Amino acid sequence: MKVKTKSKKVNRAWLNDHVNDPYVKLATREGYRARAAYKLKEIDETLGLIKPGQLVVDLGSTPGAWSQYLRRRLSPGGAAIGALNGTIIALDILPMAPIEGVVFLPGDFREPEVLQKLEHEMQGRKADVVVSDMAPNLSGIESADAARISHLVELAVEFGQHHLKPEGALVAKVFHGSGYGPLTRLFKGTFKVVKPIKPKASRDKSSETFLVGIGLRRSGPQA
Ligand SMILES: C[S@@+](CC[C@H](N)C(=O)[O-])C[C@H]1O[C@@H](n2cnc3c(N)ncnc32)[C@H](O)[C@@H]1O
Repeated sequence: MKVKTKSKKVNRAWLNDHVNDPYVKLATREGYRARAAYKLKEIDETLGLIKPGQLVVDLGSTPGAWSQYLRRRLSPGGAAIGALNGTIIALDILPMAPIEGVVFLPGDFREPEVLQKLEHEMQGRKADVVVSDMAPNLSGIESADAARISHLVELAVEFGQHHLKPEGALVAKVFHGSGYGPLTRLFKGTFKVVKPIKPKASRDKSSETFLVGIGLRRSGPQA
């Protein structure tokens, strides 16, 4: 069928791009589960966000490359196993294979009881950094997709308002399109400093980009 042939071609082109992608090769060599690790690495290296001793929350963590990166950053020698100076709490709707030292909570971040589980795991502490790479499954209906994407980012910002330290930071994946302007305004109303970053590892043809908010304008209730 015509459609099938076309999609086979697209799949082949994607596979070709994927296999030849330098970040895919690097991820394999360095033991990361996904090339996405290099997006967070570049953001972190640009802004110096992740430091030993921190509490970091990873929203939309599966398959786990960001958690692996965080884990290495919080370990004294940058090791993937062994001593860990800090706490990483990861959360995703999908299961995630264990990463030594990372606490994983399964669940939908939109559900109040999942948020409660996360709050329970934080034991009254505030996070130094919240990272969100959450992205919903897209339906192809632009307005509906934009609303679902925005909703997840809004929830991450709300979470940050209540659970970040006053000088804490939120990294969130957003997409250029109708929701981008309002989300940037939300970030600017919430954080003292807002930086948009498109890391090199984020494919040029993807409308994905990241907003980083640093330092809450009004701190939420103290723990
Ligand atoms: C691009 S992937 C994250 C990749 C991850 N940062 C890594 O480095 O491996 C996006 C993730 O967001 C998760 N996600 C989407 N909606 C979610 C929700 N409502 N609650 C929790 N996780 C969600 C998806 O299940 C998916 O695993």
